[in-house]
Amino acid sequence: MIPNMASSTSSRSDRGLVVFGEFFFDLVFYDLPTIPRMGEEVKTASFARFPGGGLATTALVAAQLGTPTKAITRVGRDALRSQEWQRVVKSGISTGGCEFDAHLPTAITVCAACEGDRMMITHDRINAKLERLLARPSVQKQLRSGWHLHLACALRPPQLWMAAIRKLRKRGLTISADCGWNPEVLESPRLPSLLKEFEFVFPNESEAKAMTGAKTIEVAARNLARSVRVPVVKLGRDGSLAVRDGRIVRMKSIRVRAMDATGSGDAFDGGFLHGYLAGWPLEECLRAGNVCGALATTGAGGSSAIPTADKLRKLMKKLR
Ligand SMILES: Nc1ncnc2c1ncn2[C@@H]1O[C@H](COP(=O)(O)OP(=O)(O)OP(=O)(O)O)[C@@H](O)[C@H]1O
Ligand SMILES: [Mg+2]
Repeated sequence: MIPNMASSTSSRSDRGLVVFGEFFFDLVFYDLPTIPRMGEEVKTASFARFPGGGLATTALVAAQLGTPTKAITRVGRDALRSQEWQRVVKSGISTGGCEFDAHLPTAITVCAACEGDRMMITHDRINAKLERLLARPSVQKQLRSGWHLHLACALRPPQLWMAAIRKLRKRGLTISADCGWNPEVLESPRLPSLLKEFEFVFPNESEAKAMTGAKTIEVAARNLARSVRVPVVKLGRDGSLAVRDGRIVRMKSIRVRAMDATGSGDAFDGGFLHGYLAGWPLEECLRAGNVCGALATTGAGGSSAIPTADKLRKLMKKLR
């Protein structure tokens, strides 16, 4: 078990995970023969659509592994009948704290991938001022019943999140965040005081360096440990590392044939948090994160290759 988290493991895993963040419809056109110019149309036989954004991927991974999981997000009414939202609902993720906006459409990203590169177009007006959701009575109810809150969003600007986060922390929830690549948030002088409220933060290598101004990943991780209890840095094919009691714990990843790295970081978060809620030691949480992150790179998006609990156990053994 991660130190200083004295608690009954069963109440932790029973109360489970609440994931808060942005939900997207991701429409991906890939294997394009060329990128169209203005006025042109290009056709491709390769197309996929799936729930996108950190919220969906992290929640889907944790839920499929058996962690009771609740999602809190804002979507349009158009989401209700969509296959992307249905995937979330059918995974057993509780959506009772979600807001269904009557006027705005669900956030959507169209991605065009050609020869290893890609371009994206996003419409996400619905995600403005998402932090206001935290004050809704239905959301408060969901949060009261959870053990851990994971924020899968940019926290923009950090000071707007402070009061709500402090309150939740005082109520006994443990909290983590994955802000993604958002330099104005990562480099904000207001971020460190928010990080003090967090059990974990999950940056990748460039995000950890941007958050601290450090040149090496080890220095960045140690700097983060001055505010976050256990910083966890994702290192792509090199696995991940964390800082516990001032010492760096490194964990390699499994070898895979990577096809699309989108969402691998969010899948890592889901695997890691599943381990945390099950009361596993930090090393095992890192192994679980690495396996889920690595598998996510083998399919399109972050949630097309989620392991079962059994498969996760088997693959984690390879990392011992
Ligand atoms: N090619 C790979 N081989 C093995 N494991 C991988 C590979 N790519 C990613 N992983 C695993 O997935 C984790 C997350 O990947 P990465 O470091 O790319 O996160 P990220 O940059 O936050 O991703 P995202 O695009 O989702 O934001 C890594 O820490 C590692 O465990
Ligand atoms: Mg990431």
